[in-house]
Amino acid sequence: MQSMRCFALLLALPVLLAGARTHESNPMNSAEDFQEGKRLYRIHCGNCHGMQGDTGRGARLARKSYVHGNTDAELFDIVEGGIPGTDMPGLWLEEDDVWRILLFVRTFAETASKGCDPGNGEAAAGKQIFDTKGSCLACHTVGNTGGRLGPDMSFAGELYTNDQLRRALLEPARDVANRYRTVRVVTADGERVDGAWMNENSYRIYLMDRSENIRSFRKADLVSFEMPSESLMPAYKGLLSAGELEDLLAYLCTLRSPAKEAAQ
Ligand code: HEC
Ligand code: HEC
Repeated sequence: MQSMRCFALLLALPVLLAGARTHESNPMNSAEDFQEGKRLYRIHCGNCHGMQGDTGRGARLARKSYVHGNTDAELFDIVEGGIPGTDMPGLWLEEDDVWRILLFVRTFAETASKGCDPGNGEAAAGKQIFDTKGSCLACHTVGNTGGRLGPDMSFAGELYTNDQLRRALLEPARDVANRYRTVRVVTADGERVDGAWMNENSYRIYLMDRSENIRSFRKADLVSFEMPSESLMPAYKGLLSAGELEDLLAYLCTLRSPAKEAAQ
């Protein structure tokens, strides 16, 4: 009896040393856990990986398999311990919170596999709208061309579902990723500048203005400085007809990663 207990303790020891993981697979599964996971992801991960797992400074998480591990336990260890030698930090969160975050992260793969359904629109007409009438290209990159004010659209068809694309176009303010928060300043000279938040410290704020210039302002010199919960992206409700919207969706659905990555 005594030796059994000792044996159990020895088994538990590596787990305790490795961090706080006491499960091999994700024990979290309620809707509340998911919402909490999404909230925590927004705070701890969204900045680097994007709220859809698709953008920013981190690896693309909206895919069916990962480079550094795929089981629940492996993903847990990545999030808890980070990936040494890269920008992926170790986070040392409570075990339950890591699992909640992973509950949310797992839905990216679903999005990536389902992706977007082209429907009845005409992709060629949609490309025209993207490049010209809609000015999407002014702010979004596809392949090697386009603007940088908004997220890269090169893999839009794989990263977003039809509903997400529709919502992004009609109500862009609803879910603005941290990386693309809007900043609006008014300088002492009365100049009004809005752009995407880049960085800030106690004294200065850095933003990318609408012409993609990185600008920095001394906070003390500003007449006003706000971060409205608006998107820099215009709402296209009323700007595009229902047919044009369908064409645009059909085009966005064709934007996918090269075959090798898609097959993973
Ligand atoms: C400071 C930026 C940063 C933050 C914050 C961050 N990551 Fe990462 N993450 C990265 C980078 C960079 C990589 C790619 C590392 C490499 O392989 O070069 C990465 C890789 C990963 C991977 C492995 C992907 C693969 O293909 O193997 C997972 C999973 C991951 N991150 C999840 C998360 C989660 C979940 C959070 C929040 C709890 C988070 N990351 C926070 C930057 C970040
Ligand atoms: C003035 C710049 C600008 C224009 C023009 C613009 N966008 Fe955006 N777009 C952004 C920014 C900034 C974001 C990130 C903030 C957000 O999610 O609203 C974004 C986000 C998005 C997203 C992703 C939303 C998400 O949830 O990740 C999609 C999809 C998108 N845009 C598609 C388009 C399409 C299609 C057009 C043309 C009809 C377009 N955009 C025009 C700036 C722009």
